[in-house]
Amino acid sequence: MIETAPLEIKDIKFSAKAQAYLSSPRQMLINGQWIPSLSGQTFPVFNPANGQEIAQIASGDKEDIDAAVQAARKVFDDERGPWRRMIPSERGKLIWKIGDLILENAEELAELESIDNGKPISVAKVADIPLAADLFHYMAGWVTKMEGRTIPISVAYAPGAEFHAYTLREPVGVVGQIIPWNFPLLMAAWKLGPALATGNTIVLKPAEQTPLTALRLGELLIEAGLPDGVVNIVPGYGETAGAALAAHDKVDKVAFTGSTEVGKMIVKASTGNLKKLTLELGGKSPNIVFADVQDIDAAIQGAANAIFFNHGQCCCAGSRLMVEEAIFDQVVEGVGELAKRIKLGAGTDAETEMGPLVSEEQLNRVSGYLESGQADGACAVAGGRRLGNAGYFVQPTVFSQVKPDMKIVREEIFGPVVVAEPFKDSAQLISSANDNDYGLAAAVWTRDVSKAHRTARQLRAGTVWINCYNVFDAALPFGGYKQSGWGREMGQEVLNNYTETKAVCIGL
Ligand code: NAI
Ligand code: MG
Repeated sequence: MIETAPLEIKDIKFSAKAQAYLSSPRQMLINGQWIPSLSGQTFPVFNPANGQEIAQIASGDKEDIDAAVQAARKVFDDERGPWRRMIPSERGKLIWKIGDLILENAEELAELESIDNGKPISVAKVADIPLAADLFHYMAGWVTKMEGRTIPISVAYAPGAEFHAYTLREPVGVVGQIIPWNFPLLMAAWKLGPALATGNTIVLKPAEQTPLTALRLGELLIEAGLPDGVVNIVPGYGETAGAALAAHDKVDKVAFTGSTEVGKMIVKASTGNLKKLTLELGGKSPNIVFADVQDIDAAIQGAANAIFFNHGQCCCAGSRLMVEEAIFDQVVEGVGELAKRIKLGAGTDAETEMGPLVSEEQLNRVSGYLESGQADGACAVAGGRRLGNAGYFVQPTVFSQVKPDMKIVREEIFGPVVVAEPFKDSAQLISSANDNDYGLAAAVWTRDVSKAHRTARQLRAGTVWINCYNVFDAALPFGGYKQSGWGREMGQEVLNNYTETKAVCIGL
């Protein structure tokens, strides 16, 4: 067992609006109606700052997923219906309006996100909520720009024949979307935005730990004027509602963000009807600091931000800090000092810089890694303990004296825990940085432009940041190499994952 240090949590207060939202069981959205689950079952959600129950949510299961898929199917298959016949500019305006409504309700959404997930309300206000709105605004612009191509063809076996050939970009159909708890509203936006822009219909299953903002977003979708059944939202557990959605043979595609372990289960579940898949999975991202870095303080601050942002509960967290030998001690000490200064508390407290982990399960998982690091002989330069007994808090932790085969070096921890490793030269660095099952993100800190670009090419990762970290934009594609996933989110790239290309050929 790891040790526990004391932590005092001030009285946790919710606004009247949030209290009202939490006071009755939240229902599921199917075909434009808010309804209880068919079984009548609900499940509890907890405040991670003190472990107390805050709401009851309709618990979707196989039969609810089936009803939601049928609703989505009916709207999609109705070629004369309001969704399929909506002209692109009108669809674009509707998606833009969703972004506007998110901004208009930013305060409320930020509070719900903080209550549910534990993240500081100040962070939700400047990051999660505006990024979610921006995603819809960005995707709204694509609706009128989904163009096919005309293609000059030769047809080797038909000399002299003439053809006119072109491509159409069409929606994939009914899309199942399964999202995690680390950025609940933002992940809903990443998934819904491109699916709507390309004309699909959707069944969304939020994470059981954090269903509140996705359900509130459902109300905003109705307010924006989205036709009934285009987006259906079924909260529930992964093993029940999630598994039913992944296996449903009337679902054309599943988009999943979460653990690599469940990603593999979704691949297996998809074989029944060979549904299309996109997977955004785990990571163990190297954050590399060269001795010639321009501004060492900026690199130290960047390294702390890379791992401690969102309490390390980021798939792209910079969880391996790789520092060139000459400045290793200075950088590690600097990150350790920053770690010690972070103020932990309830997310709803305005002074909080880092909140609790999302759930007891995550607390146990991260504590297990702290224990394993200490047992394997790593040295905790900062942190290493749990904080308080009621909520799910752990200290921001920096481990040094690690070895390549330690669990804390190889596995995704998904908490505020970084392992620091020195490197001698570029050759050793690259083989060690790429020596991992994951390939989601990486960063490089150097003032040498050629070295920066060369290293960026050599890293097997879907995103490489240079002299920065955690820079996200709706226009920038994001996704993984290796076991970090299939396909890309955001940018123009994601549209390929939500469309089929149809080749049409006319004999003239
Ligand atoms: P998870 O992968 O179990 O959950 C993610 C989503 O998948 C949730 O909506 C869950 O209900 C659903 N799900 C779970 N089992 C399912 C199944 N059999 N079929 C269909 N859907 C299913 O992740 P969990 O347990 O919350 O966290 C475990 C670890 O996963 C974390 O410690 C972290 O390493 C990783 N993770 C990665 C995330 C990312 O952003 N890539 C996000 C969340 C977790
Ligand atoms: Mg799980």
